[in-house]
Amino acid sequence: MAKQSKSKAKRKTSAWYQRHANDPHVQRAQREGKRSRAAFKLTEILNKYQLLRKKDAVVVDLGCAPGSWSEELAQRTNENGLVIAVDLLEMEPVSNVVFIRGDFTEAETLAAMDAVLNGRAVNMVVSDIAPEMSGHKLVDQARCMGLNDEALSYAVNHLREGGHLLLKSFMGEGFDAFKQEMRGWFATLRVIKPAASRKASSEIFLLGTEFRR
Ligand SMILES: C[S@@+](CC[C@H](N)C(=O)[O-])C[C@H]1O[C@@H](n2cnc3c(N)ncnc32)[C@H](O)[C@@H]1O
Repeated sequence: MAKQSKSKAKRKTSAWYQRHANDPHVQRAQREGKRSRAAFKLTEILNKYQLLRKKDAVVVDLGCAPGSWSEELAQRTNENGLVIAVDLLEMEPVSNVVFIRGDFTEAETLAAMDAVLNGRAVNMVVSDIAPEMSGHKLVDQARCMGLNDEALSYAVNHLREGGHLLLKSFMGEGFDAFKQEMRGWFATLRVIKPAASRKASSEIFLLGTEFRR
């Protein structure tokens, strides 16, 4: 692949910042004190499909930093519920959320998460995970699909019967096959493009409800 010239890369960067600053969802997030505009994607989906209505749910938030999903999840659970959040990066603490720093695909991190779960089955797994992008489309798409696979495996191993999985995916090579694989584990599978997701982005959410083995 041809290398981008420095000046082109710079122009692209400033265009990104400009788009970001003018984005109404970014402005709303700033007004409402959210850590990220991503919060609105989660709330739209949870509200529309009436998920996490019981406050004693056990929820796992994969790829949680900077924490806007974790904040929303904490508001939907009480002291009988549990939110476990995991990320490669550090996250500012969120009240009533147990944060674990690590790679959720690694045994050590999984063991730490299991220790917090202490045998409880999970009501819902959410994953907003995005890998670090290399800029090489095919490589990035393959990484995304690999992480989707890992998130699905985590859900299959930890969800209770009737539980749900919400996962960010990316349209492209491997998406249809992954969607089919995920469909096999849930009574219903929905493909969702929330209003706060940029139209130009290939990001798309998959919601599997009513997990069944
Ligand atoms: C789009 S951000 C998540 C935003 C978050 N949902 C929020 O609302 O603030 C994606 C996150 O996935 C994390 N991530 C990527 N690969 C991961 C992995 N293997 N294990 C844990 N976290 C990972 C990244 O570090 C990044 O913080």
